[in-house]
Amino acid sequence: LTIRAGSYADELVKTAKTVASPGRGILAMDESNATCGKRLASIGLENTEANRQAYRTLLVTVPGIGQYISGAILFEETLYQSTVDGRKIVDVLIEQNIVPGIKVDKGLVPLAGSNDESWCQGLDGLASRSAAYYQQGARFAKWRTVVSIPNGPSALAVKEAAWGLARYAAISQDNGLVPIVEPEILLDGEHNIDRTFEVAQKVWAEVFFYLAENNVLFEGILLKPSMVTPGAESKEKASPQTVADYTLKLLHRRIPPAVPGIMFLSGGQSEVEATLNLNAMNQSPNPWHVSFSYARALQNTALKTWGGRPENVKAAQDALLFRAKSNSLAQLGKYTG
Ligand code: 13P
Repeated sequence: LTIRAGSYADELVKTAKTVASPGRGILAMDESNATCGKRLASIGLENTEANRQAYRTLLVTVPGIGQYISGAILFEETLYQSTVDGRKIVDVLIEQNIVPGIKVDKGLVPLAGSNDESWCQGLDGLASRSAAYYQQGARFAKWRTVVSIPNGPSALAVKEAAWGLARYAAISQDNGLVPIVEPEILLDGEHNIDRTFEVAQKVWAEVFFYLAENNVLFEGILLKPSMVTPGAESKEKASPQTVADYTLKLLHRRIPPAVPGIMFLSGGQSEVEATLNLNAMNQSPNPWHVSFSYARALQNTALKTWGGRPENVKAAQDALLFRAKSNSLAQLGKYTG
């Protein structure tokens, strides 16, 4: 079984399976402090550590959420943060049977020599940071890079994205963290669904080529792809059935069955749309666990309902639990709306 991944191979496989367990998915709450600030601004709150802590406390203390959520992706600040009442956030997650994960990339910057595209930073010092995150309780990692369809994508940008993900994945596995491999193909653009499919095929081919070249243990990774949809500004609208057909066709062509879990991002889809699309993909058995790793499609209503007011915490938590449960049903192909 072992390709490399050193002494952690068995643990990686076990962690990946736990996160990819039936009827559960990932709560992405790894907004950087800057992005978290934008979310807080949308409800009229200042981007202070206290406000971020209050919001993240709300998210992780939903009673019973561990039934639907198997993993939570945290931003570095949150991995070391406590709840408002002084419990370590990592401990609160583990008590609910939720595996703590950590965003390890350092964000996007312009890719010199490309068509105004970007690349993802964060490989320098990644091994030592990953070892420290493991010590702190993290058991999986996330690295999000993006590919833009309207800007190309250029061959250079795709290669850079794939290579960066593969280096990150190898380093994560060496340090006991299951890498979530996330090349987000941005929704922006007027292109049709066939164009998205074509680009995604190219991107996933390169990602798997370099993952293999870097001796990454496929049984010990998780994927976080975008669903195959028309561009956000396209006149074409795709039904959940069409999105499911295109996306599953892509996965079958490109993703080996050794990979335990496909955890989709929501990428700006509405909450209900993201649930319906996931449900459509789970109408027949798949070789992998096909599930969710949503940020906006889990949090949007909860954030609005909260509005920064302590008296709304319970209603906001109910809203999050409702979305988590709906996506859990969709993972099982049993969502009825
Ligand atoms: P969205 O589900 O909001 O697209 O976020 C995905 C993500 O990568 C956050 O971890």
